[in-house]
Amino acid sequence: MRILVTGGTGYIGATAVDILLSQGYEISILDDCSTGHADTVPAGVNFIQGSLLRAGDLAQALVGVDAVIHFAGKSLVGESVEKPELYQEVNVQGSRNLLNQMHMSGVTKLVFSSSAATYGEPEHVPILESAATNPTNPYGATKLAIDHMITAEAASRQIAAASLRYFNVAGALKSKRGWLAERHYPETHLIPNVLRSTKENPVKIFGSDWPTADGTCVRDYVHVVDLIDAHIKALESLRPGVHEIYNLGSGDGYSVRAVVAAASKAAGFDIPTVDSPRRAGDPAVLIADINKAKTKLNWAPTRGIDVMVADTLASFS
Ligand code: UFG
Repeated sequence: MRILVTGGTGYIGATAVDILLSQGYEISILDDCSTGHADTVPAGVNFIQGSLLRAGDLAQALVGVDAVIHFAGKSLVGESVEKPELYQEVNVQGSRNLLNQMHMSGVTKLVFSSSAATYGEPEHVPILESAATNPTNPYGATKLAIDHMITAEAASRQIAAASLRYFNVAGALKSKRGWLAERHYPETHLIPNVLRSTKENPVKIFGSDWPTADGTCVRDYVHVVDLIDAHIKALESLRPGVHEIYNLGSGDGYSVRAVVAAASKAAGFDIPTVDSPRRAGDPAVLIADINKAKTKLNWAPTRGIDVMVADTLASFS
């Protein structure tokens, strides 16, 4: 079975490529490398350095393909507020183009990287897939627009699809070629920033007056290897004409200070931090209800926060 992995040179996409290859899948990658890194592409992969915005690149990438895992897209909340048109073009138009070209190429299976950002500020935690979707930033709005597009595509063209709503992805995979580390420039995510904190440049804790036990925001972290395991299970469970939505997290919440404590344990010293003002747009608490993925996909995360920080730390050395 040949899978087209869009965004296959990014942090999550490259991890997927490695795991899929190890399980015997054949791989094509379409990636413009605007945020990914071509040096992650393993031997034996059909790599098209191209764009979702060019029909010719998409047509070429879909040759001989049985299913698509669609990771490609812009994924920074802050950037999406500054450049909403860029997110509309790359995420929404790019996904529209992909669906059109899949139809023309006769490819009917799709697994899509959606986001917890589609829910916005939750009314209840843990968050169910049936919760209201009120994204609070353009990034989340584009992911929600794509989810709706896929639902329509399943109804009208009978594609078999799953949208996976990621909560906070962390950790790293040690492949035969070494660690597939998270490499974002600039890095905005908590765990990499905590692990790079120094006395001179301590990691900022964005708000210590949130309505939580220790005053810092609570998030649901899931290891990237567990996340990809869920993609493969979702891929294998696709049904024609059906678009399923699954939350992917751990079902547990960790405060920013709890993450710093776990990282300090992994690093072997107290990681320096500095209390800072709240970051605009942050909800206080995001925790996934993952029972749908557990029961319907027979999936469960197996790597906790200690493994995530230890693997991220190892991937940086
Ligand atoms: N944080 C800090 N200091 C930092 C970085 C983050 O205190 O240097 C805090 C944030 O305020 C937040 C928590 O750590 O409370 C986690 O922040 P991240 O930036 O690591 O992750 P987010 O929860 O903001 O965003 C993640 C994904 C998004 C996705 C969102 C879904 O990165 O793509 O979850 O809710 F949209």
